[in-house]
Amino acid sequence: MRACIIPGSFDPFTLGHLDIVARASRLFDKVYVAIMVNPEKQGRFDFRQRKLIVEATCAGIPNISVITADGLLADLCTALGVCAIVKGVRNATDLDYETSMASANRFLAPGVETVFLPAKAELAFVSSTFVRELIKHDRPLGGVMHPDAVKLISSGFKSEN
Ligand code: PNS
Repeated sequence: MRACIIPGSFDPFTLGHLDIVARASRLFDKVYVAIMVNPEKQGRFDFRQRKLIVEATCAGIPNISVITADGLLADLCTALGVCAIVKGVRNATDLDYETSMASANRFLAPGVETVFLPAKAELAFVSSTFVRELIKHDRPLGGVMHPDAVKLISSGFKSEN
């Protein structure tokens, strides 16, 4: 079985992320979506909320597991036995950043390959940062987040308490 991991801070998980996960799920037998800590970013949603959003958004994809983890991505790759890290890239800035992350992860886990999937052009403007701005300014989230994820946020995650 060939498994991959799609790591990210997913704060929150967007339709751009969903597109990458869906495409990876057709390339690999198993996909782990790993919600992890990016030390350069301050969180808006807590890990429980982020996980609920990912699960609601990816409900139609059968071969994925959503996990949360701290620690190093390379160690998680080894523990899960994945052969690849999959990352979506929207533009040259993403590619530059992700290339250096890939080198660091190769240094730590030489047997794990990083695979880049280019974002669809129509989703390339979608980022978690943009979504957080929309939320802050009370703007609708249609077109950037899954409707079920929007419902979760609108309800204050109350139905899941
Ligand atoms: O969605 P993001 O914020 O670009 O995801 C970045 C993330 C969480 C994948 C990255 O910060 C990460 O891998 N964190 C785990 C800690 C780690 O392994 N750091 C070294 C990576 S080179």
